[in-house]
Parts: sequence; C-alpha cells; structure tokens
Amino acid sequence: MADNNKPVAGHEKIETNNFLMIVLVLLTVLVGGVVEIVPLFFQRSTTEAATGLKPYTALQLAGRDIYVREGCYNCHSQMIRPFRAETLRYGHYSTAGEFVYDRPFQWGSKRTGPDLHRVGGKYNDEWHRIHLINPRDLVPESNMPAYPWLATATVDPAEMPGKLKALRLLGAPYSDAEIAGAAEAVKGRTEMDAVIAYLQVLGTAVK
Ligand code: HEC
Repeated sequence: MADNNKPVAGHEKIETNNFLMIVLVLLTVLVGGVVEIVPLFFQRSTTEAATGLKPYTALQLAGRDIYVREGCYNCHSQMIRPFRAETLRYGHYSTAGEFVYDRPFQWGSKRTGPDLHRVGGKYNDEWHRIHLINPRDLVPESNMPAYPWLATATVDPAEMPGKLKALRLLGAPYSDAEIAGAAEAVKGRTEMDAVIAYLQVLGTAVK
C-alpha cells in the first residue's frame, strides 16, 4: 500500500521556502491571467459593437459624464447577469458588444438601487425629471438622493467637440459633421435634459 504521509518530492521545499512560494504563485497567476484575459482583446464578441448599437450623441454623452460626476454608479449597476431572476426583472442580460463605446464602462458593483442597463424606454422623460428632482415624489420609500440642480445647470457646448474627437480616436465612428455639430446639439440644454437623454438610450440596442 502507498504511504499517504510520505511527502511528495520537492513539495516540502516549496512549502517551507517563502521566496520560492511567492515566485511560483506569481508565475501561476501570470499564466492564468494571460490565458484568460489576452484572448478577450481579439474575440469578436467582446470587441465588436452589438448590431444596432450607436455611439452616444453629444447630448447623451454629456449626460453620461454627469452620471459619472454625480456618482450614480455608486448605487446603480449597468450589468444584467445571465440568471433567470435578473432577466425576469430587468430584461435581456447584458452582452459585451453593447459596451464597446463606453469609456469607461459603468458596470458598477453596488446595487443600492436597481440595475439601469435596460432602463431606456421604461419610463417617459417626465417621470425621470420628477424622479431626479425628488425621488420621493414618485417612490415614497426611496432613499435615492435628489438632484434638483440638474434642472437649472446647463451643459457647456464648448466641451463637446473635443470629447467626441477623443472618443473617435479610440474607435467610436463619429463623422466630421457630428463632431462639428456637437456644440450646437447641446446648446441651451440643461444637465437634466442630458442625463435623461442618456438614461433613455441605455440598453436599447438589443431588443
Ligand atoms: C444612494 C444611492 C443612489 C444614488 C447615488 C442614485 N440612486 Fe438612483 N435609485 C436608488 C434607489 C434606492 C432606487 C429605487 C427607488 C427609486 O426608484 O427611487 C433608485 C432608482 C433609480 C431609477 C429608477 C430605476 C427603475 O428601474 O425603476 C433611476 C432611473 C435612477 N435611480 C437614476 C439615478 C441617477 C441618474 C443617479 C445619479 C444622478 C442616481 N440614480 C443616483 C439609489 C440611488
């Protein structure tokens, strides 16, 4: 019978040598990382836009930046996982191709509030307006903060062409005309208009 207590050759050496252990653990993690992560950069399903996905318009993009500025992602994820409980509540699970124009993505990791990836079209603009000015007016038990200043602050048009240009550099297919018209497209619009435009397009590429 084999002696189960007999140490495997070399094993003891590794377990009693911190330095060797650290080097081997790092090596294992490195190989695992390369095998798992590197192929994602070359896979179509993770690098190509989902059919029907368009880059954000200037107004939606301004709204997205306000979403980031206000820290909405601290309470809202934008990542519907492929589980029945999730898809019944939020709709089709999120796919990688829907986020190719998101830089950075807003997947988030905390759900104090509901996932927002498919909130586009769920409510009308007026609902969002009232909700953002004071969530309690629509959902009495809500603990979401109020964002009344969005209704009065306006989007700075001068910032927009540069933002579109930077995103084009990273692969978003904006035309010259879209970049040239980006300032005009947000002129006089409030931050509220922008955030709502952004919320209303979320998750609408996949039907
Ligand atoms: C402190 C956490 C918190 C923050 C920050 C927060 N929310 Fe919420 N949000 C909630 C909670 C909780 C709900 C569910 C109750 C409700 O509808 O008000 C909610 C609901 C929502 C809904 C309705 C979702 C649905 O499917 O019914 C939208 C849209 C929304 N939030 C947008 C935003 C936006 C935009 C911001 C940033 C400007 C934001 N939230 C910031 C907690 C938060």
